[in-house]
Amino acid sequence: MKLNIAVLAGDGIGPEVSDQAIKALNAIALEFDHKFSFNYAKVGGAAIDDCGDPFPQKTLELCKTSDAILFGAIGDPKYDNAEIRPEQGLLKMRKELGLFANIRPVKAFDSLLDKSPLKTHLIKDVDISIYRELTGGIYFGKKEVSQDGNYASDLCEYSKKEIERVAHLAFKAAKARRQKVTLIDKANVLETSRLWRRTVTELSKAYPEVKLEYLYVDNAAMQMILNPKQFDVILTENMFGDIISDEASVIGGSIGLIPSASIGDKYALFEPIHGSYPEANGKGIANPIAAILSAAMLLEHFGLFDEAEIINYAVEKSLKLGITTPDLGIKHEEISTSKVGDFIADFISNPTDSNHN
Ligand code: IPM
Ligand code: MN
Repeated sequence: MKLNIAVLAGDGIGPEVSDQAIKALNAIALEFDHKFSFNYAKVGGAAIDDCGDPFPQKTLELCKTSDAILFGAIGDPKYDNAEIRPEQGLLKMRKELGLFANIRPVKAFDSLLDKSPLKTHLIKDVDISIYRELTGGIYFGKKEVSQDGNYASDLCEYSKKEIERVAHLAFKAAKARRQKVTLIDKANVLETSRLWRRTVTELSKAYPEVKLEYLYVDNAAMQMILNPKQFDVILTENMFGDIISDEASVIGGSIGLIPSASIGDKYALFEPIHGSYPEANGKGIANPIAAILSAAMLLEHFGLFDEAEIINYAVEKSLKLGITTPDLGIKHEEISTSKVGDFIADFISNPTDSNHN
């Protein structure tokens, strides 16, 4: 298969971890005789530095003319009080590319069960797929701040259409998994949440094999820690999904392990859920696994399931052997971001190499 991939590495550790994902994809291309080409464009703080716009037109154009987008991370503390912030680039990118569904898989890796602060029996075999709506809600509603700075407001808006398109994806995924969707909302308080409930309840009738459950977001936050095994597919609005997915990452032992896919009608983007981790910038300590697993999600998106499987297997192998960055334990502090990437790429090229066993 031929794929043109836009690389938007972004800020902080974004470039380092994206490089490791590209190493894995290059190893896959070689093994399976695919042609992946990578074209780079700036986003976030790096783009503000370059041209004053966190999501410039030329970056948008590259995204639109590519088959898929590999995204690193965004955010730079030097812009904390600036009017133009790197994060605006991420939001603009999601909106302009119509990436309305963000899929975040949360798993407990067997070899990392003791890295989570949660008890092993609670998290063993957890396998959750979070469907977060990504281009609506309070993130994108009208914002106001008064002249004197003493008043501010953010409007939370949703339309039935916006809810339906992400809900269909969640139900289709649940059908192929353990047939359960949990809708997380705050329907006891918010009108938008009541619209979500009505819309999703109605739509669920088209998926009779899928069980639909409802949880208020405050209770869901508690359930995620008390009994995460109850979840199969989680469906939720933009901000609740942002918060619940960071909480859920604790199950895996590190936020540095969770990839994501952002999908729209036309475009698809793959990104780790973590941020730009400026404190780690250039130190070689950032965990590249979330970026590498995002590359595996990219392959799955194009139906390259065997290829994705090999990446997943190589990642598991690296974790099992303790070839991990320091966020997963002090024992292996000497293993850098690029060493982890090299191990995974080598393993893809030569999975039976006895040196790695
Ligand atoms: C994420 C991030 C972003 C979000 C920030 C950087 C705007 O936290 O992708 O989860 O809130 O969506
Ligand atoms: Mn987030």
